[in-house]
Amino acid sequence: MSDKAILEINGQKHEFPLITGTENEVAIDVKALRGSTGGVITLDPGYKNTGSCESAITFLDGEKGILRYRGYSIEELADKADFLEVAYLLIFGELPTAEQLDKFHADIKANSVVDDDIKKIIDAFPKAAHPMGVLSSLTSALTAFNPSSVNVDSEEDMYNAIVRILGKFPVLVAWAMRKKQGLPLDYGDDSLGYVENVLKMMFKSPNKEYEQNEILVNALDKLLILHADHEQNCSTSTVRITGSSHAGLFVSLAAGISALWGPLHGGANQAVLEMLEAIKEDGGDTKKYMAKAKDKNDPFRLMGFGHRVYKNFDPRAKIIKVAADEVLSDLGVEDPILDIAKGLEKEALEDQYFVDRKLYPNVDFYSGIIYRAMGIPVEMFTVMFALGRLPGWIAQWKEMRLRKEPIGRPRQLYTGETLRSFTPIKKR
Ligand code: CMC
Repeated sequence: MSDKAILEINGQKHEFPLITGTENEVAIDVKALRGSTGGVITLDPGYKNTGSCESAITFLDGEKGILRYRGYSIEELADKADFLEVAYLLIFGELPTAEQLDKFHADIKANSVVDDDIKKIIDAFPKAAHPMGVLSSLTSALTAFNPSSVNVDSEEDMYNAIVRILGKFPVLVAWAMRKKQGLPLDYGDDSLGYVENVLKMMFKSPNKEYEQNEILVNALDKLLILHADHEQNCSTSTVRITGSSHAGLFVSLAAGISALWGPLHGGANQAVLEMLEAIKEDGGDTKKYMAKAKDKNDPFRLMGFGHRVYKNFDPRAKIIKVAADEVLSDLGVEDPILDIAKGLEKEALEDQYFVDRKLYPNVDFYSGIIYRAMGIPVEMFTVMFALGRLPGWIAQWKEMRLRKEPIGRPRQLYTGETLRSFTPIKKR
């Protein structure tokens, strides 16, 4: 392959270098485009063809259904690693030794208490507040209680901010849920593993000891690993672009949480369950909803189907589908919602509309089913996604900072009015 791309504008040729990644993906380096062409830009709404950065964290091949963190396949990590090991791998680039992991966990635990005044902020939210909004606000508010976290130039402060947020975020997640349920805002137990502690903080009832259930611990561990990073998706790009202005880690994460909230992104897991409930309430007629999804005059989309990048299958969905079956059978759950989900999945996979557009079930089609079986309220599903994505966001923010990337500032093609003169209000 040639090492340059040639662009011809008005008979004039402009050359741009081609850059090849370690997995042989090729990009045209257009950094010099405006300068050499006298102001021409590329236009790519939704960035379907635009790389915003070089990154060494996650490799994804949507055609082949490949997902790897730092070179390790998602299948192997989900099978052999635990969430904290994966978090370390994403953030620091290598799998930790036992000592490195112990130190990392000890540093996180040493930072797992949040200022008690955070409870006053939680109290000020109405009980009906969506926990994603609460989580985003509280994550941002943490900056006020940890001012050194905005010092983005010191590697030591950066490390401290990382272990702080990994320690405090699960507390905020648990409190966002417990507040809605009218339960006391307690802490977990530092003698437990990271994921066991999350479950205890979420589910401990005030008058009983909390008993760990290994099935739930394993299922949550796997779900968090599968969600831990996904290269330059909407929320991750938001975290990177926010941090590119040298904003601190916590506020960059808060921006990412807001981006994740939407139903086309992380909010899809909540939307899937709500859709399945609605179909059940409407008599369980999956064919009717398949027809709605295909009708171009109907805004309804089959939630949990399709993906911007995966156009073959979502490798995370394959793993989670097996985990969902295990969890439901181990817990002895019989759920009519599951039958509706299985019916929809079968019909969609055989339907020409979905086949032609390469629309397959994505990770969120199954994750909500597991969360529901675990007793997690629907509104918390996207919060659980955020808990899993946290190490990925941190790794991407850190990479962006260490590479000293420039501030993110896209261009636009202006299509508004050209210069016109002002008409006084009485004459309009
Ligand atoms: N149901 C029905 N039709 C669909 C769907 C769907 N879920 N998804 C895409 N299409 C159709 C769409 O109407 C379009 O048809 P046509 O070519 O005839 O106009 C075609 O497929 C391509 O769709 P698109 O919107 O251009 O594709 P995209 O890459 O911009 O969007 C998506 C990807 C995930 C936003 C979209 O598939 C979708 O809205 N899915 C439902 C929401 C969902 O499950 N999101 C979770 C994504 S996985 C979690 C995460 O990583 O955030």
